[in-house]
Amino acid sequence: MTRSKTLIIFFSRTGRTRRLAQRLAQLLGADVEEIECPRYRLGLFGWWRYLRAGFNSVQGNVPRIKDLQKNPADYDRILLGTPIWTSYPSLPIRAFLKDTPKLSANVAAFLTYGGQSEPDKAFNMMADMLGQPIKHRLAIKTEDGKLPDMDAKAARFANILESAA
Ligand SMILES: Cc1cc2nc3c(=O)[nH]c(=O)nc-3n(C[C@H](O)[C@H](O)[C@H](O)COP(=O)(O)O)c2cc1C
Repeated sequence: MTRSKTLIIFFSRTGRTRRLAQRLAQLLGADVEEIECPRYRLGLFGWWRYLRAGFNSVQGNVPRIKDLQKNPADYDRILLGTPIWTSYPSLPIRAFLKDTPKLSANVAAFLTYGGQSEPDKAFNMMADMLGQPIKHRLAIKTEDGKLPDMDAKAARFANILESAA
């Protein structure tokens, strides 16, 4: 059986979703595209950018993101990854979804979150914006800033995706 050609497109501000994306990429042999969004970058004025992220997210004020290096149309499976912001997918992934024509690939999604929200609300918004269903979903709640059992959860998710392919 040939393996699905997989692209993982994700945004991460403080690195948790990035760690999960990298683990899934190893497990699935996937290419990775990290969405870059200078408006919410960490570093100098990081605290201000955090507040701005919250305000903008509530308002649905979608930022500019840098152009992707890879073409989603070259892949037959796409995984979208994001943290939850104010109950919804982070604004940078919303910026990507807003400008993306319907994908021909199978789409799955993963997210990390602090625990104050219902993950399906964010997954459902992603599916709505995309205009196609997202059946396979992985949500990991942080504990003390870490992702508990990330390796085991990622491996289980990767197995589900591989057996569904
Ligand atoms: C602006 C902002 C809003 C957030 N809103 C929520 C929220 O509504 N619910 C929740 O469970 N976590 C919320 N979080 C926490 C993040 O989802 C969580 O820390 C996530 O793991 C961060 O991922 P990252 O390290 O990849 O950026 C928020 C974080 C930020 C920066």
